[in-house]
Amino acid sequence: MDARLIDKSKLPSRYVTEGPARAPHRSYLYAMGLTKEQIHQPLVGVATCWNEAAPCNISLMRQAQAVKKGVAAAAGTPREFCTITVTDGIAMGHNGMRASLPSREVIADSVELTMRGHAYDALVGMAGCDKSLPGMMMAMVRLNVPAIFIYGGSILPGSFRGKPVTVQDMFEAVGKHSVGEMSDDDLDELEQVACPSAGACGAQFTANTMATVSEAIGLALPYSAGAPAPYEIRDRFCAAAGEMVMELIAKNIRPRDIVTLKALENAATVVAASGGSTNAALHLPAIAHECGIKFDLFDVAEIFKRTPYIADLKPGGRYVAKDMFEVGGIPLLMKTLLDAGFLHGDCLTVTGRTIAENMAKVSWNPDQDVVRPATSPITPTGGVVGLKGNLAPEGAIVKVAGIPADKQIFTGPARVFDNEEACFEAVTKRDYKEGDVLVIRYEGPKGGPGMREMLSTTAALYGQGMGDKVALITDGRFSGATRGFCIGHVGPEAAIGGPIGLLRDGDLITIDAIKGTLDVDLSDEALTARRAEWAPRPSTATSGYLWKYAQGVGPAVGGAITHPGGAHETKSYADL
Ligand code: FES
Repeated sequence: MDARLIDKSKLPSRYVTEGPARAPHRSYLYAMGLTKEQIHQPLVGVATCWNEAAPCNISLMRQAQAVKKGVAAAAGTPREFCTITVTDGIAMGHNGMRASLPSREVIADSVELTMRGHAYDALVGMAGCDKSLPGMMMAMVRLNVPAIFIYGGSILPGSFRGKPVTVQDMFEAVGKHSVGEMSDDDLDELEQVACPSAGACGAQFTANTMATVSEAIGLALPYSAGAPAPYEIRDRFCAAAGEMVMELIAKNIRPRDIVTLKALENAATVVAASGGSTNAALHLPAIAHECGIKFDLFDVAEIFKRTPYIADLKPGGRYVAKDMFEVGGIPLLMKTLLDAGFLHGDCLTVTGRTIAENMAKVSWNPDQDVVRPATSPITPTGGVVGLKGNLAPEGAIVKVAGIPADKQIFTGPARVFDNEEACFEAVTKRDYKEGDVLVIRYEGPKGGPGMREMLSTTAALYGQGMGDKVALITDGRFSGATRGFCIGHVGPEAAIGGPIGLLRDGDLITIDAIKGTLDVDLSDEALTARRAEWAPRPSTATSGYLWKYAQGVGPAVGGAITHPGGAHETKSYADL
C-alpha cells in the first residue's frame, strides 16, 4: 500500500497539524524548517537512546539519520528525540548500578510521554544497551501505535596478544590482578584493547539477548539485530525500518497485534536456545505486562526446560554476536528452531508477514558451528532454570549454560552479606572458603533499590579461579556476562521479609538446578522464629527517583515493574 494514501484524518497527529485551531502548533513546526507538505504527512517519532555515556549507544545518532531517510522516502515526517540510558558496564560495581534497572522504567515512561504529548503517529525505537532495549520495547507495546524496533548493534571483539577478547576478559582480569596473576602493565594494556569499537557488549549478555528477542518477538526486521554497530550495513536496516514503519501505519499493524503470548514464548525460546541472559526473565514479563499478558519468571523457565541450547555464544560458549551475524544471523537460529518445531511460525511480525513466511528463504549453513542442529544441541535443555523452595517461595533463577550437570547441585554453608560491596571486599581479600554459598541480600528491586547486578563479584571469583568452587545467591541479579553457579532474583526479597533476609552465617543451603529447588536446612518453625525477630531495614534511598521507585516497584517474578497493580491501558492514544 502506498503510504501517500494514508488517511491523515484518522491519525493522532491531526490534533497537532490539522485545522485552523492548530495554526500555532504548525508555526512551531515551521520554526524547525518543516515544509507544509512535511507538516501534513504522518509524523513518526524516532526515539533513540543516543548519548556519550557508553559505546553501546554512541552510534545511534548516525543510525537515526538512516531511519529518518527511510521514513521520508516513504512520505512520512520523522521527528527524532532522545531518552536517557544508564549503561551497566560503567554503572556496575558501585552505587550507580542502583540506577540501572530503574532506568528501564524511565526510558519507557519518557518515550511514552513524548509520543503522547506530540501526538506522533508511529514510532521507530532505537536502543543499544541492556535496559534501553526492554525499555523501548515496553514503550512500543504500551503506546500501541505502529512501531518498529532497531538495535544499535554489538561491539567488535578486541585482540590481546593475538587472542580475541571481550569486556568479559576485562572484568575477569580484575580478579586475576587482585591475586597477583596479572601485572599492572598487562591490566593497563588489556583495558585499552578490550573494547575496540562502538556497540553493545559482544557476547550473549543482556543487550544481545534482548536484541535476539526483538527479532524473535516480531518487533524488529529479520537480520537487523545481528550486524555490529560499526558496520555500515546497519544503516540499510535502519532505512528499511523507517520505510517499513510507514507501511505499518498504512496497514494499521500495531505492536500488540505482534506481541502475543505465542510471540513471548518464541522470544523466550530463542533466549533459551542461545544461552541468553537471565535478565530476559525480568524483561519479558515486563513487556508482557504492558499488553496485559501474564508471563512471569516461571513461564520463561518452563520454556527453557523444553528448548535445546544450540547457539555456541559467549559467555558460556565460544562465539560473539559478530560471528553469529556472519554465519546467518538470528534468522539462522530461528529457522533451525522453527524447523524442529520449537517456534510458533504463525506469529505476525513487523514485516507484515509471519515468522514462518520471513524464514521461508533461510537455509541451513553447513559451514559453521556457531549454531548447531536442534538434534545435536550443546545441552538438551536451555541454559536457565527456575528454582523454588523454602528459601525462594516466590522463585529464583540460575543460569546453567556451560555448567556441567554434575556441578548443578551444590550444598554449602552460607556466608551472608547485606550488600554487594561487603561481599566484593571479602572476595578480593580471599575471605571466603571453597564450598561456601555466598549470600548477597537487600539488593532486590525494592531493597537495593534497583536490583543491582553482581558482575564485579562473580568476575572477581572467576578471576581467582574460584568461580566454580563456590555458589552465590542474591535477591539482586546477574549480568549476562556472569559465569559460575549464581542464583538471582530470589523472592520474596530480603527488604520485605523474604527468607533470604533470615539467613545466618553457617546455615546449610542446597541448590539443585536439576530438580529446580533452592532450600535452607531450617524447619518452618525455625524460620518463623527468626521472622519474629526480623525488622525491616531503613532504605538507602530517601529521596529522588530511587525513593519513588522503591515505593512502587513490584517483585522480580513479575518483571520488577513499577505499576504492578495497574492494568495495562487497553486503548492507544491513537484511538482516542
Ligand atoms: Fe552496554 Fe554491555 S554495557 S551492552
